[in-house]
Amino acid sequence: MKAITLIRIIVAGALLAGAGAPQAAEGDPAAGKQKAATCAGCHGIPGYRTAFPAVYSVPKLGGQHAAYIVKALQDYKAGNRSNPTMRAVAAGLSDQDMADLAAYYASGAAKSAAAK
Ligand code: HEC
Repeated sequence: MKAITLIRIIVAGALLAGAGAPQAAEGDPAAGKQKAATCAGCHGIPGYRTAFPAVYSVPKLGGQHAAYIVKALQDYKAGNRSNPTMRAVAAGLSDQDMADLAAYYASGAAKSAAAK
């Protein structure tokens, strides 16, 4: 009996925690911010500049839709987008990494950082 009660509590807790979560792979913007440290050198967050403007035309990510960013990263990883740099970057990202990064860039936090 005790074990069943415990299981009920755990299940109820899991349901509560899951309530309001729109999707399975939900991104965490705070985790994404940390993971974005490797992206910032090229996708220069402040003012959308890169360290090597003469070499790269790097698209802006801040404020982009999360679903778009995740899709783009998945496409690089799968080879549906052919940029070799981003393919190498995306190859090292898990689905959770992508969701976190997308949540961070979509949140506008990257934008407000640029205003400083
Ligand atoms: C060495 C430089 C470099 C690094 C590091 C880098 N990127 Fe990129 N990224 C690029 C370039 C260049 C492009 C444009 C590629 C193309 O034309 O397809 C790009 C494109 C993208 C795109 C597609 C944007 C669009 O609008 O099509 C996304 C999303 C992206 N990068 C995310 C990231 C994330 C997330 C990271 C860190 C985990 C990262 N990138 C790290 C150079 C870089």
